[in-house]
Amino acid sequence: MALKNINPTKTQAWKKLSDAYNSTSTIEMKSLFRQDNNRKEKYTITYNNFTLDFSKNRITDEIFQYLIDLANETDLADGIQKMFSGDKINETENRAVLHTALRSFSGKEILLDGTNVMLEVKETLEKMKNFTNDVVSGKFKGYTGKSITDIVNIGIGGSDLGPRMVVDALQYYKNHLKTHFISNIDGDHVMETIKNLDPETTLFIIVSKTFTTQETLTNALTVKKWFLQSAKESDIKHNFVAVSTNLSKVYEFGIDKDNVFTMWDWVGGRYSLSSAIGLSIMVAVGAKHFREMLEGMHSVDEYFRTSPLEENISVILGLLGIWYANFMGAQTEAILPYDQNLQYLASYLQQASMESNGKMVDRSGKKVTYSTGSILWGGAGTNSQHSFFQLLHQGTHLIPCDFIIAANPTHHLGHHHDLLVANVLAQCEALMRGKSADVVREELAGQPPEKIEQLTPFKVFTGNRPSTMIMIDKLTPYNLGRIIALYEHKIFVQGYIWNIFSFDQFGVELGKQLAKAIEPEITGHEKPEKHDASTNNLLLKFKSWKTY
Ligand code: F6P
Repeated sequence: MALKNINPTKTQAWKKLSDAYNSTSTIEMKSLFRQDNNRKEKYTITYNNFTLDFSKNRITDEIFQYLIDLANETDLADGIQKMFSGDKINETENRAVLHTALRSFSGKEILLDGTNVMLEVKETLEKMKNFTNDVVSGKFKGYTGKSITDIVNIGIGGSDLGPRMVVDALQYYKNHLKTHFISNIDGDHVMETIKNLDPETTLFIIVSKTFTTQETLTNALTVKKWFLQSAKESDIKHNFVAVSTNLSKVYEFGIDKDNVFTMWDWVGGRYSLSSAIGLSIMVAVGAKHFREMLEGMHSVDEYFRTSPLEENISVILGLLGIWYANFMGAQTEAILPYDQNLQYLASYLQQASMESNGKMVDRSGKKVTYSTGSILWGGAGTNSQHSFFQLLHQGTHLIPCDFIIAANPTHHLGHHHDLLVANVLAQCEALMRGKSADVVREELAGQPPEKIEQLTPFKVFTGNRPSTMIMIDKLTPYNLGRIIALYEHKIFVQGYIWNIFSFDQFGVELGKQLAKAIEPEITGHEKPEKHDASTNNLLLKFKSWKTY
């Protein structure tokens, strides 16, 4: 069944939220804390060693209730149930959205057009596990009979960002194999990666759901050519495997049937790291840790599916984003893990969120009159403190921030971790607390009065800048799985309430089409005159400079 088609701006809750925004002068978080001793408890959810503290947000009890009303009036519960039941909620592509099946350990059937998808999911996971064990143990050999030392993931978008983010995040749990990622069609990315690799001991995992993506196929062919400088066509089966839904294209490339791992069109690329797309993760950290990550994801899937909306972390994260984007005028949101190993989390979530919810028409095909798809960005603390935090503290933009911190490090440098935690707590406190002109003046006491007056405005922090804290006990595979799934579902919540289709991505197609049309003009002698004047001119200039 299709998702309901409810314009959120026509709900009572939307009107109440607008009125609340217009009638409340400024929602001062510090005074909300003063007025309500219970605020921290009320706006903290702890679920199984996982804490979400959203008390430092510009919401009152009334606004929180209206946000929950908005979820109810748009019937979010119905949307959640339809996604988990395998309804074809990716309507524009006539597909179900079942990434949750990839990590389902409930033992229940999940039917899609009458077929239990869990049988294939289990079969693929088993094949991945056997393959991983063989590679890690050294039983799987390269074409000259040597064990594998290096794995190269060749893919882009969802076939790169997820695996790359997780492998980096779980580096503490990694085995002896070295992992590399090639994604960009820029030849430097390929050459710089392969230049120090030994073709005899390198395993290439070509990851492409469609097996038609220009970047991945071009990179894979370049790597194959490099490999064939020292090996024969018949050796490809020893050093190349693929993950795809497009088996005929994979075989055409020369990859052996036994070396293909399938996935399905009901898994979107940006939601696919728990499928065989995550093969390089499993090989890098081992089947046991991969399974733990899936278990973490599954626990959140169940939690998301069954928890009441007002206690549901993904729902709350999604609603807070809607409050800031649609009522308070925020255009972006920042993801700030205080964990170097999560340095790629923001890039990963950027694709997941912006490719899903960057849509301008609603589910009836009409242009929306409200903003959708907030711009997501971020970076790891404390490095980010020394780059863009100035703007967070004293800039003119309202940027809600999600901070993520593990209570315990994976390393043994306790002192470092104490300082890391001190910094993350201080940043949230500073964003909310700010620094008044009076305090600045006090701090400047002793300087000439005119100097104090001149400097004061520059040193004031207005404060009242919102942040949400996610605290986990430790960055384990299980907890990482939980973080990923919580954000996946946040994206679902937002797309659902914005009444858009979150699981297609037609917006990436036009550029791809035009690049195909320009390519012959770059490589051949055709005169560029089909384009606008600027593009024609740039092409001519490029051709006059081209020396390769
Ligand atoms: O950027 C468009 C996109 O289709 C993404 O959604 C996807 O993750 C990426 O390209 C890679 O696609 P594929 O896995 O089919 O190569």
